[in-house]
Amino acid sequence: MSPPPTLLVCTNRRFGADRPSCAGRGSEKLLKRLRRRLAELGRDEVVVEESPCFGHCRHGPNARLLGGAFSHRLSADDPDAVIASLDSPPSQEDPP
Ligand code: FES
Repeated sequence: MSPPPTLLVCTNRRFGADRPSCAGRGSEKLLKRLRRRLAELGRDEVVVEESPCFGHCRHGPNARLLGGAFSHRLSADDPDAVIASLDSPPSQEDPP
């Protein structure tokens, strides 16, 4: 039996105008909306967890499918796009 798909969402916040961060760009809202939308869709098999900084702060909000690739520049307004990426994860490891 394979482990459940686990999506890690960075909710790190860095303070300072010159220090972009995922939380500063809406990742906490994205996390809530992802959990709500997955529940609506009955996707109970997907685990969504908060994560500390991935080190890709300039490209956030960022998430990573555990054992898979990063997703960058995610939008709290479009959780469905993130959910779609679970079924066809991006192949790039680093942001463009
Ligand atoms: S703050 Fe999210 S990757 Fe650094």
